[in-house]
Amino acid sequence: MTRAGGEGVASGKVILLGEHSVVYGHPAIAAGLPRGASARAVPSADRTVLAVEPWGVEVSPDPAADKSLTRALAAMVEAAGWKDTVRVDARVDLPGGSGLGSSAALGVAVMRAVDDLLGIQRSDAEALEVSLAWERVFHGNPSGVDNAMAIAGGLAWYVRGQPIERIRGRAPLTLVIGDSGEPCSTMITVGDVARQHAADPERMGKQFEAIASIVRNGRLAIERGDLVSLGQLFDMNHALLAGMLISTGTLEEMIAAARNAGALGAKLTGGGGGGCMIALTDGGESAARVKGAIEALGKRAFVATIGSIDSESGDLA
Ligand code: MEV
Repeated sequence: MTRAGGEGVASGKVILLGEHSVVYGHPAIAAGLPRGASARAVPSADRTVLAVEPWGVEVSPDPAADKSLTRALAAMVEAAGWKDTVRVDARVDLPGGSGLGSSAALGVAVMRAVDDLLGIQRSDAEALEVSLAWERVFHGNPSGVDNAMAIAGGLAWYVRGQPIERIRGRAPLTLVIGDSGEPCSTMITVGDVARQHAADPERMGKQFEAIASIVRNGRLAIERGDLVSLGQLFDMNHALLAGMLISTGTLEEMIAAARNAGALGAKLTGGGGGGCMIALTDGGESAARVKGAIEALGKRAFVATIGSIDSESGDLA
C-alpha cells in the first residue's frame, strides 16, 4: 500500500575499537551517534529521484554512472525490489568522508523512507542486506558495521555476518570526537590494508589478532566501568592502526593534544587516512579540556556521551 509520504532516519556511528580488523571477521565495538541522516519519500510520476542536502546533489538511479551516489541508488532500488518511482529528499547531518558513517546513515534513511512510503516491512537482517548493496558502491568491501549501527544505534559488539549484540556499560562513556577536516576514503584505506594483508598474511593476521584481543578486553572494561583500562586499550588499538600506515600527521597531532590534555586514551576512528579521532575522558571538565586542546589546533570537536551529544562546537555537518 502506498501512503502520501514516508519518513526515515538513521544514526551515524563511531567505532570505539576494532576498525579494519572487523573487515576480516574480528569483532568491533561501535556506538551510534544521535545524529546521522533523515529522509522523506513521496510518489513520483515518472522517475525515481534522490536529492541530498547539504550536498546540493540530485540523482536518478543509473548502475553505469560515474557518480557513486547514482550507482548506489541504482543498487538499492534493485536490492530493495522497489517497483514504484519515488522522490526522496534527504539530509545528512554528519560531515562526509569523516569516518562517522555518513554514507551508511544516508542509505539507511533513504531505504526506511521509501519502505515506509510503500508499506514495506523488513527485518534488521534484510534491511542490512539492502543497505549493504548501497554501501558496497562507496566502500567496496564493507564489513557492515556502519550499516548495522545506522540501523540499530546504541552501543554494540559487531562481528561481520552476525546480528549485533548490545553492550551494557557500567559507566557512561564521554568521548571527545575531533574532526581533522581531512577527507578520508574508507575504500582507499580498506584497499591499503588489503594490499598489506595480501603481501604478508601472517604478519597482518597477527596484527588483527592483537586488535581482536584489545576489543575483547575493551568489552570487559566497558562492562566493568573501568575507564582507565579502556583508555589504555584505545591507545594500544591506535598504535596498531598507525602501524598499518592509516593515521596522518594531523590525526597524530590531535591525538597527542588530547592525551596531553588528560584524555584517558585516544585513537583514530573509522577508516583513517584523515577523518576523525576519538578521545576517552572522565567526563565534565576533563572532556571540556580535551575538546579545547583539539580546538586550539584549529579543528572542530564535540563531546558525545554514548547515545547523546552533550555539546558541540560549530555545525558538524
Ligand atoms: C569504517 O567505518 C570501518 C572499517 O572497518 C571498514 C568496514 O568495517 O567496513 C574501516
